[in-house]
Amino acid sequence: MAILKVARLGHPVLRTVAAPVPVPEIRLSETQRLIDDMIETMREYNGAGLSATQVHTLKQIAVIEVLSNPRYPDAPQIPLTVIVNPIVTPLTDAMEEGWEGCLSIPDLRGMVPRYTEVRLQAYDRAGEPVSLIAKDFFARVIQHETDHLNGVVFLDRMKDLSTLTHLAEWNKYWLGVTEQDE
Ligand code: NI
Repeated sequence: MAILKVARLGHPVLRTVAAPVPVPEIRLSETQRLIDDMIETMREYNGAGLSATQVHTLKQIAVIEVLSNPRYPDAPQIPLTVIVNPIVTPLTDAMEEGWEGCLSIPDLRGMVPRYTEVRLQAYDRAGEPVSLIAKDFFARVIQHETDHLNGVVFLDRMKDLSTLTHLAEWNKYWLGVTEQDE
């Protein structure tokens, strides 16, 4: 396993749409190694999720995991989830604002509106189809990672940039101030 280099905002790869992975290729050792490396990279940098585009690979693969995470101390836990070729369908019109950060946009946080409930259809790392309903923080992370696979970053989803803040100022001025933070 290896810790991969994470692309930062400005790298064109982050603005490129990733290609679906042909299902028979999911089980190939090359794809499995990429998934293992993405998991290790996400854990190394305390990400709640990581998309393949962020590690310079234009394949529709993302990994999500929230154990007790120092970058998201109040977030509910999410078990390790590997999604390939995800399709996300909102199940409600309701959107909620919540804080997001991104390993590709280091040291910044902003309030982002997201659907509070979505259906996720994807393949898992064994190439088996998965369909699940996700709510709240899990739904938020799924939308954030799926956006990456379509060349979209959280800044694009903010209503305006007035809440955009550096992490040190977030800890000083915003932590615990708002109820919306999952
Ligand atoms: Ni991100």
